[in-house]
Amino acid sequence: MCGIVGYVGNRNSQNILIEGLKKLEYRGYDSAGVAVYTTEGLQVKKSKGRLAVLETKLGDEPLNGTIGIGHTRWATHGKPSDINSHPHTDNSLKFSVVHNGIIENYISLKEELTAQGHVFVSETDTEVISHLIASLYQGDIVKAVQQAVTRMRGAFALGVLTEYEPDKLVAVRLQSPLIIGVGEGENFIGSDIPAILEYTRNVYILNDGEMAVLTREGVELMTLEGNFISRELFHVDWDIVTAEKAGFDHFMLKEIYEQPKAYRDTMGSRIDATGKKVVLNEIGMTPEQIKAIRNVHIVACGTAYHAGLVGKSVIESLARIPVETDVASEYRYRSPIITPQTLVIVVSQSGETADTLAALREAKRNGARVLAITNVVGSSVAREADDVIVTWAGPEIAVASTKAYTSQLIAFYLFGLYLAQTLGTKDEAYIADVVSALQELPAKVEHILAQSETIKGVAEQVSTHNNLFFIGRGLDYHVVMEGSLKLKEISYIHSEAYAAGELKHGTLALIEEGIPVIALATQGDLFEKTVSNIKEVKARGAHVFGIHEEGEAELAKVVDQVFAIPATLPLLTPALSVVPLQLLSYYASLARGNDVDKPRNLAKSVTVE
Ligand code: G6P
Repeated sequence: MCGIVGYVGNRNSQNILIEGLKKLEYRGYDSAGVAVYTTEGLQVKKSKGRLAVLETKLGDEPLNGTIGIGHTRWATHGKPSDINSHPHTDNSLKFSVVHNGIIENYISLKEELTAQGHVFVSETDTEVISHLIASLYQGDIVKAVQQAVTRMRGAFALGVLTEYEPDKLVAVRLQSPLIIGVGEGENFIGSDIPAILEYTRNVYILNDGEMAVLTREGVELMTLEGNFISRELFHVDWDIVTAEKAGFDHFMLKEIYEQPKAYRDTMGSRIDATGKKVVLNEIGMTPEQIKAIRNVHIVACGTAYHAGLVGKSVIESLARIPVETDVASEYRYRSPIITPQTLVIVVSQSGETADTLAALREAKRNGARVLAITNVVGSSVAREADDVIVTWAGPEIAVASTKAYTSQLIAFYLFGLYLAQTLGTKDEAYIADVVSALQELPAKVEHILAQSETIKGVAEQVSTHNNLFFIGRGLDYHVVMEGSLKLKEISYIHSEAYAAGELKHGTLALIEEGIPVIALATQGDLFEKTVSNIKEVKARGAHVFGIHEEGEAELAKVVDQVFAIPATLPLLTPALSVVPLQLLSYYASLARGNDVDKPRNLAKSVTVE
């Protein structure tokens, strides 16, 4: 995820910006840049690649000045490149902006500004902001930023500098985090506390809809409407490692808690302003090409494969196109029947998984069109696919994938709806209902996260066992497959996920007194059948932990413990029901004293076959 640093004081800002950005490297990035006010005016240096590349550039031609902004970019709009890197400027080079987040209406703003004569050089949404501020500037940068923000839709944190008022650094927060560091004769901004921890431990944490104006002398906090705010300083007593995890004990837990934001960002501008349909501008397929699709192959590895299993049900149910889902390491070797009418969807968090990439190439060799769902813009998979849906989950650092999986589900929902709209397989009212239910998911995930203590209790019981089972039917079956994988990966407890109705064809022999069984029963039409299967394991002494929807009263009567997730449309339940399973594996791993973020034998990105 992008990182922001800003400085105003009496020291050489270039060095402070670079040091601050280094502290944000753990967030992942693909390019970096700084803007500094020097005796020759506002100067920008930026480059694709690691910070070391930028440092070399700055070593050759230093930017001397005591106020500046810096940024590490993790590409969303536009590939990683020198030009797409931040800071961005306007055409007069008098205004400079660093930005985290997404401006959802940047295309319409860009058209408006282009009509006024502004010339854009990058593919980013951010460049629009510097031009917008420049167009509104009438001698007061604070007012210009406030006016600009009223025109922008989305989630963002900004750092803004202008050569016209070279003692002021303006910062804005709307949903993307931003903090202000307060020093003596110097002040800082940072997208994250580690960026400034070396210089000060006194910070103001900006809330949504707030901004700050920093000078050497002090910091003024105000609302975006310009009403001043007084706030107590927050003294940070975390060490740097804790600060990187934003106070969470592990990256995995932080990433589990980031899911509501990841859902919102992935939906973002892909839901139109009426909130009733999906807009996927990134899909280059014409309606005729979509209508010509005869079958879909979804290919992926690990957790991404499990997202693909849900994706199969989503596409089949919304678009009525037959879908096969394959593990990428098997796909090529089974001579899949791929024709030019096959759409192959590859799913990969990293976009670099060797088997997935090989499957993509095999599909293209056979004339199929390839759509990639990936979390990394500019990755190999993203570059080689014909169309790309980026999941805006932000970098995932823990080896066990959580927010990437759920963002992949959101991408499948969006794509399934898009197909249904184009093919006319569902009417407008139905699509509007699903879109509205999708938008309610982030708050529902927050509701589940608020009950993590209950899951922790169950996880502590589970952690004392060496074997357990997960069961479910339909979509629940696919979700428990992911739950079981998660538990294996980080707690090293052996578990099997089984289609609840299939248990009696062999595996039931393994059920014995006291063995834990995690049963997912969220699919209304399959509920009674799942309950029958739960009774089969109960009769053989299993200790059953059941997950059901709020408002459903029957499950509690047949299982030992229950956990309720908020109700939603049956098709959307995986985006909720997986969350308690993620928490379960996290707390079980913790209870066993394992290295949660770096499980034994596993790698985050597998670039060998
Ligand atoms: C590795 C990771 C898994 C991930 C899989 C596929 O095995 O440990 O968490 O699901 O690779 O990775 P990808 O980046 O292609 O989604």
